[in-house]
Amino acid sequence: MTIGDCRVDFPITRDLIYLDSAATSLTPKPVVQAMVEYDLRYRANVGRGMHRLAAVATHRYRDARDAIRSFIGGEVGTLAVARNTTEAIGAVAAGLPWQRGDRVVTTMLEHHSNLLPWLRLRERGVAVDIIRPDAAGNLDLADLEAAVRDDTRLVAVTHASNVLGTVLPVGEIAGICRDRGARLLVDGAQSVPHLPVDVAAMGCDYFCFSGHKMLGPTGTGGLWMLGSDLEPLFVGGGAVESVTDGGYTLAPGEQRYEAGTPPIAGTIGLARAAAYLRDIGMDTVRRHEERLCARLIDGLAVLDGVTVAGPDADTERIGVVSFTVEGMHPHEVAQILDEAAAVLVRSGHHCCQPLMEHLGLPEGTVRASTYIYTTKEEIDTLIATVEEISRRMI
Ligand SMILES: Cc1ncc(COP(=O)(O)O)c(C=O)c1O
Repeated sequence: MTIGDCRVDFPITRDLIYLDSAATSLTPKPVVQAMVEYDLRYRANVGRGMHRLAAVATHRYRDARDAIRSFIGGEVGTLAVARNTTEAIGAVAAGLPWQRGDRVVTTMLEHHSNLLPWLRLRERGVAVDIIRPDAAGNLDLADLEAAVRDDTRLVAVTHASNVLGTVLPVGEIAGICRDRGARLLVDGAQSVPHLPVDVAAMGCDYFCFSGHKMLGPTGTGGLWMLGSDLEPLFVGGGAVESVTDGGYTLAPGEQRYEAGTPPIAGTIGLARAAAYLRDIGMDTVRRHEERLCARLIDGLAVLDGVTVAGPDADTERIGVVSFTVEGMHPHEVAQILDEAAAVLVRSGHHCCQPLMEHLGLPEGTVRASTYIYTTKEEIDTLIATVEEISRRMI
C-alpha cells in the first residue's frame, strides 16, 4: 500500500480537514473490521475457557499482543496491554519500590501524564528534578546529564513533544542512565505513531504508548518493560498462577499485569493498526510527515502576526506544529478554522501547562498535527485560512 492509497480507508477525511491527530488519530476501515470480526464471529473471553470460541479468541488476542510488541521492537521484553499511555506511566510510578531520598529526573517538555505521577511521589519523600528547556524549547543534554546522580532511580522523558513536535535523543539519554545506574522510562505516545521505534535498540527500561494515536481504538495502549519486576497495579483473575486461602502466586511475564478481562477487540484492532502502518512503512510515514511539517512551518512563519513556537525548522520533528496569532486567543483561532474552512486543530495548553508558562504562552497555542492521511493541499488550506484570520478577513 502506498501512502496515497490509504485515504479511502478514512471516510472522515471526505468532509473535513483533520489536523488533530496528535490528540487522537483517525482509524482506518481494516482496523474497525478486525474489531467487528471479533465481536460477530469469535467473541469469547481469553485465557479462561476450553471451548472453541475461547480457544480462537485467546489465540488471536495473544498473537495481537505479540504483533504489537514486535512493532516497537520489544521482543526481548514484556508487553502488558494498558488502556493508554497515562495508565502505563501510572503503572510504573505505582509499581517501583520507592524509598525516601530516591530521585526522579524529568523535563518541562512533558505531558501532564508524564509529570503528575512523579510530582505525586514527592508526598512519599521522592525528590523530582525537572530539567528546563531554553526559551525556544530546546533541551540541553548536559543539563540532564548533570541532574542524573547516583541516587536517581528513574529518568522519565518524552520521545517526542506533543506541543512542539521535537524529537528527544532518547538513545543518548539511555546511555547517561546506564552510566549512572538509573532506569529510563520513555513516553512514546507521540513517537510510535510517527517514527520507526525500536525499544531494544533505544535502551530504555519502560516504554509507554497509546493505541488511539496510531490508528488504533481508544482504550488501548501498552507498557513495554525490559524486565517484569514491577509490582502489578491490580491483582485478580487472569493474573495468577495459583491461589490458596493463604495467598497467591502471580503468573509470569505480561499475564501478571493484565488482571481482569483485557480489551480483547481493542487489542486485536491495535495489532491490525500496527500491521497497517507496517504495510505503509514507518520510514515512509516519517518522510511524508517531515515534508508536510516543513511546508506548514514555512507557510506559517512568513505570515504577519503569526508566530511558530519551538526550535528552528531544521530541528528533528514529528508532524506537530504549534503557533499563535497576535491579539487572538488560540481557542478563537481554532473555532474560526473549523467554522470557516472545516479545518480541525487543537488549541490551549495541550496538557502541558508548565511548558506553556515557561515558553511565555499562558493561553497556549493553536496546534496542527498531521498523519498518513494528511495531504499538502490540506496544509495549504490551513495556511491560507490562518492568513485570512491574521488579517481579520474572516
Ligand atoms: C506526549 C504524550 N504523553 C502522554 C499522553 C497521554 O496519552 P493518553 O491520553 O492516551 O493516556 C499524550 C496525549 O496526548 C501525549 O501526547
